[in-house]
Amino acid sequence: MSDDKQILYSGMQATGSLTLGNYLGALKNWVKMHEEYDCYYGVMDLHSLTVRQDPVKFRQNAKKLYALYVAAGLDPEINCVYFQSHVSAHAELAWILDCFTYMGELSRMTQFKDKAQKHEDNVNAGLFTYPVLMASDILLYQAAVVPVGIDQKQHLEITRDIAERFNNLYGDVFTVPEPYFGENGAKVMSLADPSKKMSKSDENQNAAILLIDDRDTIIRKFKRAVTDSDAEVRYDPDTKPGISNLMEIYGSVTDKSSEEIEKEFQGKGYGDFKLAVGEAVADELTPLQQKYEELLADKTYIEECIKRNDEKARRAATKTLRKVRRKVGLTDLS
Ligand code: TYM
Repeated sequence: MSDDKQILYSGMQATGSLTLGNYLGALKNWVKMHEEYDCYYGVMDLHSLTVRQDPVKFRQNAKKLYALYVAAGLDPEINCVYFQSHVSAHAELAWILDCFTYMGELSRMTQFKDKAQKHEDNVNAGLFTYPVLMASDILLYQAAVVPVGIDQKQHLEITRDIAERFNNLYGDVFTVPEPYFGENGAKVMSLADPSKKMSKSDENQNAAILLIDDRDTIIRKFKRAVTDSDAEVRYDPDTKPGISNLMEIYGSVTDKSSEEIEKEFQGKGYGDFKLAVGEAVADELTPLQQKYEELLADKTYIEECIKRNDEKARRAATKTLRKVRRKVGLTDLS
């Protein structure tokens, strides 16, 4: 990695299967950014512990997520793709930054409020301090840019607040990061209810396209997507949220603008349009799925990549952690 590039950081929770929302909102953009930035991508397994996990499935899912990153085009020879929990500096910095974060600001996090409602029986402290661990991920690597979907906007804001607060007290310790949202796909909505975000935890099987869905399933789910009752393919998120969501998805995978899409489907019904979206998405995902199967069959390659990149991440993270320890007055490590 060269010294003159800015640093980019992002990651995903290692739970369940990824959706088209994760792909269009984050992963697809990541793949385009490695030439401009020095990139770090974590498999965020510590964050996943805020919800109860079956240990066997969780371990498998974390490795599968790593393989999906690579299958989507994140070259682990160029990008530092690693496991969050393999770099203990994340948890250490999170503790220190917990002491610079206020209960009031954490209480305002909408994701905390949503998750606390969904998991009423397990509103644990980790769920509450989740954004501080996320801030630590980003700040440890001195990231200037963080490509995410819009649902992470508030977490990026608190990260910036924590960094600025710390810098005001101790000098320029952290780079204050900027979020990056893609033009299309920064908020992919549910196919079953376009007022809700597409999410892997949705109970309705038709709400989300999974990256590992086969072609027929993808096309079937798009055919069933909830839309309005007039038959005009026109971009208008307020009055036509379902169609507008499908247009954003189609635009994102074909690089076509809304005007081009409107023209393409002028005078055609929703049936034709939905089929075209389904086919375009299936075409986009087929190579990813083939590569994913190949990677799962060859475990040694992935294992080697993990080892090498864990080490690289550890080196970068330790540098920042040392600085932070010195600044707050912790005694030197022997
Ligand atoms: P997670 O695992 O929920 O989602 C991973 C990424 O996918 C994006 N995303 C979406 N984008 C568009 N439309 C959707 N429907 C959609 N659903 C999900 C998310 O915005 C995210 O970019 N807290 C993070 C993980 C994390 C992280 C970090 C991210 C932990 N530490 C440091 C960046 C930097 C999360 O839960 O993402």
